[in-house]
Amino acid sequence: MTTTLFPPSPTTLGIERQVAGNVRVIETISQCATALDAARAAGLSVGLVPTMGALHAGHCSLVERASAECDLVVVTVFVNPLQFGDPDDIARYPRTLESDVELAGTAGAGIVFAPPVKEMYPGFPAAVATTVSVAGLGDHWEGASRPGHFDGVSTVVAKLFAMSGRCRAYFGEKDFQQLAVVRRMVRDLSLPIEIIGCPTMRDEDGLALSSRNVRLSSDQRRVALVLSRSLRAGAALIARGEGRAQVIEDAMARVVAEEPSVDLDYAAVVHADDLRGVASIRPDVAIRLLIAATVGGVRLIDNLDPRAHSAERTPPPMSSATDPKGIS
Ligand code: PAJ
Repeated sequence: MTTTLFPPSPTTLGIERQVAGNVRVIETISQCATALDAARAAGLSVGLVPTMGALHAGHCSLVERASAECDLVVVTVFVNPLQFGDPDDIARYPRTLESDVELAGTAGAGIVFAPPVKEMYPGFPAAVATTVSVAGLGDHWEGASRPGHFDGVSTVVAKLFAMSGRCRAYFGEKDFQQLAVVRRMVRDLSLPIEIIGCPTMRDEDGLALSSRNVRLSSDQRRVALVLSRSLRAGAALIARGEGRAQVIEDAMARVVAEEPSVDLDYAAVVHADDLRGVASIRPDVAIRLLIAATVGGVRLIDNLDPRAHSAERTPPPMSSATDPKGIS
């Protein structure tokens, strides 16, 4: 849809090269901003999907949603050094631009914006003077374990929003805290961006898709299933009426302890909007279960809306409830 509504026009839009099908790869901020201004001037709506590349089906679900809802979709691919504390982590981050372009195009993107680091941070590796920091929200959970991480995220996302202009921007619930931080930044800075949160894509066995999963051995991958198991155990307790957050968190931690090689960082019940810890669950307050753990040196995160989960798993009426596997 995107590409037929907005056919490539390299001369007017300053697009650098064309790779897979009708996807254009742009490397400079000014060319990308010009392309998106031209699209809006032509009456087209713009969808933005920020990524760090190594695209998998989770990323593609965002691109597909964006292309169903917007006329022109831009996927950004940039491994942002500002959000990595550990130099080893960024060095080992997978980089697969050619296949990213292919996958983005298949999922409906019209543009892949893949800038070199010097385009985003001209003075790199010198520190940038101006950063965006979402106080409070970015300090807990992931923020506590990865100091400065969310400042790096909000700074690069603010730069991408400045480049894109008015648009819808798609983020995964997989990174639930990131989604909350970005929403808050948009609200506080009155940015003309509509944030769309999209559900977490999982493998059939429950493991949340992540670019980091490729670093797990097959054994570690099996062990990593303990994260989604722990979330489901927490949700099951809540579905049975348990309202004490501490009891739920302890039960989640006990599930993780079944795999001694997994190093649990946190298993928490939080308010869904501002991610404050919850003492007891109230039916009228939206909550989320969060978990983070390290498996074989790879840090993994996951989360679950316990109510949506138990609603999904509601067994059919007794008369037709013949398959107990439908009940978690
Ligand atoms: P990255 O980890 O590449 O993720 C890009 C987007 O894909 C994020 O919005 C993330 O939540 C979403 N995503 C990842 N795995 C997913 C899954 N299994 N299901 C659904 N969505 C999923 O998040 C980042 O990059 C960066 O921090 C970024 C926002 C691009 C800033 O650098």
